[in-house]
Amino acid sequence: MSGSLVGLERDALEELSKASSRDALQQARARYLGRKGEVAGLLKGLGALSPEERKGAGEAINSLKTRLEEAFDRALEELDEKDKKHKIESERIDVTLPGRYLHPGRLHPVTQVLHEIEEIFLSIGFDVAEGPEVELDYYNFEALNFPKDHPARDMQDTFFVSEEVMLRTHTSPVQIRVMEARRPPLRVIAPGTVYRRDSDITHSPMFHQIEGFMVDRNVTFAELKAVLTIFLEKLFGKTGVRFRPSFFPFVEPGAEVDIRCVMCCGAGCRVCKGTGWLEILGAGMIHPNVLRSVKYDPEEYSGFAFGMGIERIAMLKFGIDDLRLLFENDLRFLKQF
Ligand code: FA5
Repeated sequence: MSGSLVGLERDALEELSKASSRDALQQARARYLGRKGEVAGLLKGLGALSPEERKGAGEAINSLKTRLEEAFDRALEELDEKDKKHKIESERIDVTLPGRYLHPGRLHPVTQVLHEIEEIFLSIGFDVAEGPEVELDYYNFEALNFPKDHPARDMQDTFFVSEEVMLRTHTSPVQIRVMEARRPPLRVIAPGTVYRRDSDITHSPMFHQIEGFMVDRNVTFAELKAVLTIFLEKLFGKTGVRFRPSFFPFVEPGAEVDIRCVMCCGAGCRVCKGTGWLEILGAGMIHPNVLRSVKYDPEEYSGFAFGMGIERIAMLKFGIDDLRLLFENDLRFLKQF
């Protein structure tokens, strides 16, 4: 009997040492310690022994059973321990590794400048209007006091869709659309995309303008000067502003507005072509013919209007010397702003 117990114990321990998973261990345990297992079989066999033999054999079997149970419990614990270690190893994070840099998108420099200009005008009581990019001759030219066949139409090389339909060449048609729809007092800016047959380092066939206008009783050139001076000083700092007489069919009198060169502060440089001044926008008092075309009485109302190229302002603010860079979508360029 004792010989077979020793053999059984050896076999059980050997199997146990080979079991590499919980399942294998549980199976081995069932085979030796289960209700129908080897040890249970031995205990059952006790009945066949004499009472004297039975006592000794029973003690030996029970002590074997206890040893095997302990051995299995220990093996299970070791296996758990090994699993845990493996899990910790495999999920290890190297906190000293550099993080992955996310490349967030950002606003185009033209959009940044547009937002800055809008902020300034919103802060002094203007609101924002928009108009269509595909425009009728009536709004782009006729109602703005460009009669048909008038040579002033040549000032803006136009992309025509048909005789009467075109890509707008400026944002001034929004003046007409807003004035048709509303009554004074009006203080409005109108940003948008415009198109001209033009292409070189300071001209692009697609570019952006922002129009502004104010109409009310007793609006004079003094208001125009005040609003534009405040605006330009907010945008460029206190550089100095000057007004020069100029011609646009839809204003009278008309002016071009310059700021002191932001590159050389007026000393004269390549950017200002030695003049010390940079032309920044066109402006003037809204022509009585324009007011009449929207059924405003020029005896009762007056107003001023101005318009500027947003790319030109972006170039000056960011020191960009070729306007076409703004539309090439080269990320190496755009990432700088
Ligand atoms: C006009 O377009 C007038 N509508 C502005 C105006 C409004 C005057 C209200 C008076 C009252 P002009 O053609 O000068 O004016 O264009 C205005 C600005 O647009 C220019 O100063 C320039 O900065 C910009 N610009 C003109 N053509 C181009 C172009 N091809 N590419 C980029 N910017 C341009």
